[in-house]
Amino acid sequence: MIKLMSVVGTRPNFMKIAPIVEELKKYPHIEHRLVHSGQHYDQLLSDNFFHDLALPKPAVNLNAGSGSHAVQTAEIMKRIEPVLLEYKPHMLLVVGDVNSTLAAALTAVKLGFAVAHVEAGLRSFDLSMPEEINRKLTDSISSLLFVTEQSGVDNLVSEGIFTNKIFLVGNVMIDCLLRYREEAARSEILERLGVSNNGQACRPYGVLTLHRPSNVEDRSTLNGILTAVKNISHEFPVFFPIHPRTRKNLETFGLLHYLSDSPREQNGIISLDPLGYLEFLSLNDHARIVMTDSGGVQEETTVLGVPCLTLRENTERPATVDHGTNQVVGVKPDRILAAAQDILRNVVLGDDVRPSRRPPLWDGKTAPRIVAILQDYLDRSSPQN
Ligand code: UD1
Ligand code: UDP
Repeated sequence: MIKLMSVVGTRPNFMKIAPIVEELKKYPHIEHRLVHSGQHYDQLLSDNFFHDLALPKPAVNLNAGSGSHAVQTAEIMKRIEPVLLEYKPHMLLVVGDVNSTLAAALTAVKLGFAVAHVEAGLRSFDLSMPEEINRKLTDSISSLLFVTEQSGVDNLVSEGIFTNKIFLVGNVMIDCLLRYREEAARSEILERLGVSNNGQACRPYGVLTLHRPSNVEDRSTLNGILTAVKNISHEFPVFFPIHPRTRKNLETFGLLHYLSDSPREQNGIISLDPLGYLEFLSLNDHARIVMTDSGGVQEETTVLGVPCLTLRENTERPATVDHGTNQVVGVKPDRILAAAQDILRNVVLGDDVRPSRRPPLWDGKTAPRIVAILQDYLDRSSPQN
């Protein structure tokens, strides 16, 4: 029996592991143990996703919780070490670029367990982003690097990583999106928000998400973004499911006055709790415009063909710009507003300014490719099993 352990910890990790967990069911000789670091613990950021994505309850929850980067990373490392030592996996699988990803990978390699990284190679070339540090370090200690887009392969090669570790396999998040898109359409979020009639989107609206520290920990940046979005929302509502980090800062900085609590307003920025996966997917699928600093949302809007403004100075996902609907517009209010007006003008005229093309291999079959490569590697490296 081959023993595989995988670690998840935050909201975007769940969408990345779900298609792999599903695929592993076809491999009865691979035993899989799912570990939750507990980095995200609120029901709205964690449990609801296990429900939406039919994920099994994790075998172990480390309950590491929140803290500074050092505290959180160290806590996960301390707590996962005995779990790894007890299970002795032939491979540890980590996804994405969060603190849980790095903490688990680093603990495993120091104990001599091989690591596979899903979503390897992405680079923003901005070391002020905690995720960039996590990505670079995780990639440098992984034995298998599963890459979503060509830029990731190029980055890894230029960092001197051997090409026999690198596999361009496509995007598991898109496996998840394609698997759940129809089911998401049956969620009643559009009716609840008063923008749909019998499942058909009938009123235009936008969507906003923000949680990057560079945007939400600095009052003047957050204030600038909200000024621009408020302006955009004069014509139609912009729904804003708010990450807890962001909500805390909106309160601390005295910026709640930008928001309306009433979900059925005809315009303005409408504050919502973080949404479940199916509801958020349905909301994005019918939006006129999405404004975000999320990594995953840039990718999802590309496949949905929905115009996306990335409110950051860079992206580690250039395929969403080259192939998709994404524009990286930064955080200056004038620039956000001008880009949004451009999009909305063209949407109204019915022109598809940036017709979406899916990046290669974003075809819903990434998890099968990953698991086949994993099996091959494990068969070769653990012949005694
Ligand atoms: C983390 C990831 C980020 C990812 C995001 C996905 C790191 C460094 N950051 O950011 O890359 O894009 O998750 O959403 O790993 N909190 C709660 N409830 C929770 C979890 C957090 O209220 O269940 C609050 C706490 O005040 C906490 C803050 O949010 O201090 C930040 O949480 P944390 O996990 O450290 O970072 P995120 O901003 O969520
Ligand atoms: N998402 C969600 N509900 C929300 C906001 C985001 O289900 O209210 C999903 C989104 O569709 C994507 C993932 O969460 O699949 C992205 O996570 P997030 O933006 O927190 O992290 P990032 O991708 O930036 O690391």
